[in-house]
Amino acid sequence: MTSSVLITGANRGVGLEFARQYAADGWRVLACCRAPEQSDALQQLGVEIHPLDVADPASIVALKAALVGMPIDLLVNNAGVSGGDHQSFGDIDYTAWEQTLITNTFGPYRMVEAFVDNIAISTGKTIANISSHMGSITHYDSGDEYIYRSSKTALNMVSYNLSIDLKDRGVTVLAFHPGWVVTDMGGPDAPVTPSDSVQGIRRTIAQCGPEKSGAFLNYDGTSLPW
Ligand SMILES: NC(=O)c1ccc[n+]([C@@H]2O[C@H](COP(=O)([O-])OP(=O)(O)OC[C@H]3O[C@@H](n4cnc5c(N)ncnc54)[C@H](OP(=O)(O)O)[C@@H]3O)[C@@H](O)[C@H]2O)c1
Repeated sequence: MTSSVLITGANRGVGLEFARQYAADGWRVLACCRAPEQSDALQQLGVEIHPLDVADPASIVALKAALVGMPIDLLVNNAGVSGGDHQSFGDIDYTAWEQTLITNTFGPYRMVEAFVDNIAISTGKTIANISSHMGSITHYDSGDEYIYRSSKTALNMVSYNLSIDLKDRGVTVLAFHPGWVVTDMGGPDAPVTPSDSVQGIRRTIAQCGPEKSGAFLNYDGTSLPW
């Protein structure tokens, strides 16, 4: 049977590469983005495109209604924002902080609440939350970037919590650092290509069963410290 993957923020960057690779592998790709009419690169892949703003609960509810009863083997919570330019001590944009938490933390959680039934009736039963090593408390000894870091630290906790709450339903929940990737967010100097990042994450997902649920992993499959 054909496997299906739902990807958020699939119109560019890492999300677009997920859509490209899973489509090339013959998966049914449910590619979600805020502005389908402007998603030229995604449209060229010939995948199913659905409108979705993960920061808008009504948008998530509308997609849930459109996909009732459809098995989703893999949910890739990829959509994310960097939090903007004012996130240093003494120079915090609180509105941006709120919006970043809504997108990077509430968004993935709301997606899981909305689609857990679709995931639980699938064969794959996997959720991949695209986090960041910048959310790791152990890994960092520098300051700054309060907004982005706190949103991803919170996402890591949400991922771990979900791994416990969804264990009885057989759902595997993984948090990933995709590497520092060449995208609009990562910039042109990043050392990892979207292709290598997504290949690594896909390979790791394919190797991870329920026993790995709750893990925080680098894109190459190695464990990361919380
Ligand atoms: N690139 C890196 O080096 C790096 C490192 C660590 C972690 N990450 C994480 O990896 C993920 C992908 O990053 P990227 O580098 O591909 O970023 P990107 O190039 O900036 O793309 C971000 C994607 O998220 C979408 N998005 C943002 N807010 C959204 C919302 N409210 N609803 C739906 N979609 C939304 C964007 O859509 P629009 O086009 O509509 O804005 C875009 O498709 C993010 O979660 C990011 O935090 C990236």
